[in-house]
Amino acid sequence: MVNGSRVAIIGAGSVGASIAFALLLQKISSEILLVDIVAETVEGQVLDLSDANFISSTQVRSGSFQEAGQCDIVVITAGAKQKSGESRVELIERNYKILDYVIGSMKPLNPNIILLIVANPVDILTRIAQKLSGLPENQVFGSGTFLDSARLRLKLASVLGIAENAIHSYVLGEHGDSQIIAWSFAHVGGKRLLDFPEVQNLDKEAVAKEIASKAYKIIELKGATYFGIAGCVSTLVQCIVLNQKHVRPLSTYIKEYDCVFSMPVVLGSQGIEKVIDVSLSEEEKNKLRCSASTLKSICAKYI
Ligand SMILES: NC(=O)c1ccc[n+]([C@@H]2O[C@H](COP(=O)([O-])OP(=O)(O)OC[C@H]3O[C@@H](n4cnc5c(N)ncnc54)[C@H](O)[C@@H]3O)[C@@H](O)[C@H]2O)c1
Repeated sequence: MVNGSRVAIIGAGSVGASIAFALLLQKISSEILLVDIVAETVEGQVLDLSDANFISSTQVRSGSFQEAGQCDIVVITAGAKQKSGESRVELIERNYKILDYVIGSMKPLNPNIILLIVANPVDILTRIAQKLSGLPENQVFGSGTFLDSARLRLKLASVLGIAENAIHSYVLGEHGDSQIIAWSFAHVGGKRLLDFPEVQNLDKEAVAKEIASKAYKIIELKGATYFGIAGCVSTLVQCIVLNQKHVRPLSTYIKEYDCVFSMPVVLGSQGIEKVIDVSLSEEEKNKLRCSASTLKSICAKYI
């Protein structure tokens, strides 16, 4: 993919507009199309974003579902968000219908298009989007636990006094309550994280709880989360457009667990190019098996 890629964002609410703004700052795509079923929402967001156009070479405009279906990358944020105390999985009934409508309205799809699912529950919706779109699985994936992993690295950076991007640690599995921290293979500079005294002294259950519940806390305080996911999605779009092949934990089909959830993958211009086969402890694998069986049983109702 070359500079000049067109990115459509479906759903121009808080998350969609924040992603558009982050992409505008990055200047890596020629055009961003915002699409929403509420015309006033798109018009307002486009007008507001146009005030920031002077800092960017990227143009933002409203677009139709049909135009979005011909773009290079489509980011799907359309959907209900969690209310205070509501889990992500509880959104499935409402957001399945929206996803079905969105993908149906974009067809026929550009055969090389990349669909990046952000709406929740992101793992289940990604599996459904793979089926509804009929696209190769590598072209349809979700933002998954990339945001949770960023939250974890931020936490560990403050514990260790080391830069976040030097800490190779992942939250894996569901972007939701059953997610796990893969402590077993996390490392800094080749040294196992579990060998650092600061990490040995950490209450790891408390850290896992803090990371998994951070979204609940933000929603309780201000009603929604959007800046973190906008940062994540804009770097994922950059990785695709510039074919950077970074390793990111994203929602994709994992054969070993026969479900869609997050494992570290290589991301490039074709979408997901490789799933990294990480070696997890038996305890971590058991937790992921449990999580997979719940996610699979929910998916089975829709596909
Ligand atoms: N994956 C993540 O890490 C992550 C992080 C934050 C939020 N989210 C999810 O993103 C989604 C959006 O959150 P938000 O805060 O922007 O919500 P929001 O209510 O601000 O925006 C949702 C937008 O979707 C639009 N919409 C609804 N049905 C549509 C359709 N059929 N076609 C086009 N647009 C449609 C609405 O009009 C609205 O503008 C939620 O599902 C939320 O849970 C995911």
